[in-house]
Amino acid sequence: MFSFGGDYNPEQWAPEVWDDDVRLMRGAHVTTATVGVFSWAKLEPEPGRFEFGWLDAVLDKLHGAGIRVILATATASPPAWLAKQHPESLPIAADGTRLGFGSRQQYSPSSAAYREHAQRLVRELAARYGAHPALQAWHINNEYGCHVAESFDDESVAAFRTWLADRYGTIDELNRAWGTAFWSQSYGSFDEIDAPRAAPTYLNPTQLLDWRRFGNHALLELFRMEKAIVTELSPGVPVTTNFMGFFPMLDYWTWAAELDFISDDTYPDPEDPDAPSQFAAERDLMRSLGSGRPWLLMEQSPSAVNWRERNVVKPAGLNRMYSMQCVARGADGILYFQWRQAAAGAEKFHAAMLPHAGPDTRVHREVQALGAELAELSTGALPGSRVPAEVAIVWDWESLWALGQSAVPAATDYHGVMLAWYRALLRRGVVVDFVRPGAPLDAYGLVVVPALQVAAPDELDALAAYAEAGGQLVVGYQTGVLDRDLHAYLGGYLGGENSALQRSLGLRIDELAPLGQRATTTTLVGELAGTATQWQDFTRVDDAEVLARFDDGAAAGAAAITRRASRGAEGTSDGAGGAPGRGAAWYVATLPEPELLDELLDRLLIDAEIDTPFAEPTTGAETTERGGVRFVINHLNTSRELTVAGQTIELPPFGVAMLSAGGDVVHDSAPDSAAAAAAGA
Ligand code: GLA
Repeated sequence: MFSFGGDYNPEQWAPEVWDDDVRLMRGAHVTTATVGVFSWAKLEPEPGRFEFGWLDAVLDKLHGAGIRVILATATASPPAWLAKQHPESLPIAADGTRLGFGSRQQYSPSSAAYREHAQRLVRELAARYGAHPALQAWHINNEYGCHVAESFDDESVAAFRTWLADRYGTIDELNRAWGTAFWSQSYGSFDEIDAPRAAPTYLNPTQLLDWRRFGNHALLELFRMEKAIVTELSPGVPVTTNFMGFFPMLDYWTWAAELDFISDDTYPDPEDPDAPSQFAAERDLMRSLGSGRPWLLMEQSPSAVNWRERNVVKPAGLNRMYSMQCVARGADGILYFQWRQAAAGAEKFHAAMLPHAGPDTRVHREVQALGAELAELSTGALPGSRVPAEVAIVWDWESLWALGQSAVPAATDYHGVMLAWYRALLRRGVVVDFVRPGAPLDAYGLVVVPALQVAAPDELDALAAYAEAGGQLVVGYQTGVLDRDLHAYLGGYLGGENSALQRSLGLRIDELAPLGQRATTTTLVGELAGTATQWQDFTRVDDAEVLARFDDGAAAGAAAITRRASRGAEGTSDGAGGAPGRGAAWYVATLPEPELLDELLDRLLIDAEIDTPFAEPTTGAETTERGGVRFVINHLNTSRELTVAGQTIELPPFGVAMLSAGGDVVHDSAPDSAAAAAAGA
């Protein structure tokens, strides 16, 4: 069954309102309420004095109405008394400013006082509600790291040193990994090490990377700390915390296995025409983090948010479109932030399922219609089903952190480069899984590796082995440049002299040559001619077909796109041009513009024998298959015809069609419900 509902913050309202909430939730087909995410001060008004009566009443009311509860541990925003009694628990920013009370998330991840008080609260909550019949899941904390992902206080620095000592064992090993011979940075002991604070110029890159790793570790420790308590006192109840898509500060690969199911918060900008494709990728990431299992959309807004400079509403139908995009890409539930729009506080202008103006509003009617639709779909084969993918994109947070540092060849938008590849696949209706470096790849016909700047030798070897075993491997520029200590690979990039990946690709990179600020494009000539941006490499090809060369720029004449057919285990080549089904390693030393990328991808997909539901590259649309249903989604606010797998269908603005394998419409796309809701019908 699909979950439907949202964050419910009854502590912001008088008890008289609660019955109304429950009645209206039922009317909107709400199955699930996420309760009490920011209720610590209400639950524990003074240290050690707990008030649970209000929460008892709320949970019983919800239960009485058949609504299940995802209970928050409420640790995301400590009360005023903690800041007063333990000012050292407040975080310190990189510039030395101590962040004060009066907003939220004002705790240092390494604060002993915060940890102690959070544990006590969670223990009380789990003991009291761990077996409550309404309990669907535990929601630990909220959006870890969203505002405070690092703190420069003394406890954090001490914890950083301990973490470094665990990681490296000896100070000599740390000095080696950090390359401290450079600029006289070597350390005599772990005590001499500090957080990477404001400094005269560039900080040590490996110190910066380790600080990110440590920040991730400190927050993950908090999650583990709470999870251990709820699993002890509330056995069998699944535990999650809400992710934030490709959130740059945390390496969700290291978190994913610790969650019983993945949940995500998403806020696409209604004004951004590219947002649907960007968020399709985010849905695929969530499914991938859960190893293909269904995930939960924990938060979205039914209309505007409050935190952009200008907060544009979602036009009729867009809320449903994004919700169905989640379902089409593996979600088993659609929840919102939040149920009732706040009357006061910083989020009073953030839309909610029940707006200020009440239930007789277009937003609430759209919510009701979606609730009804999901209830209907709950009876079919969709809930619990998986979304098959034949293509994988390698995504790596450590490369994101390294590419985001200063003193690199060129500022690189790693997420944007990845999305360029992702969008080309989306234009063909091809579903993508994301994988971490070193993950098994044999389930995929095509593996795309954009800008994996940082990689261990065995992670690069695994890519080569994949191509040699018959996969189509396509590697983008800035891959295999640095090892996991951020030391350059010597003897040519892509893993260093005579690495397996250099051999599989049949080339090495002698020099990185990013395009500058004046000449921002480069022309490619040859079999795959066209325009590209961002990058050139001085490729040195030993043993690969050159499909395009740079026609201009510093690297004019160098190979820009290459392909090398793998010799496989038998040591035989299938010859130039390749044959479908045989492995090959491709290299792309630049970022092709969409037209050229489409052409390149065409060849890759043919060689990988992967069907493309959209016969032609199609923008502003997407399609997936899940549980025997083919979803076709129109991103545009205009009606249009789309041809998918040979069938042409008419879609309304933001329309969603669900077809059976035979092409029949299995679920009406409800084209009028949004418009009707808008009109107040
Ligand atoms: C995040 C938080 C919510 C709320 C929304 C507003 O997702 O988790 O508490 O602040 O943002 O968009």
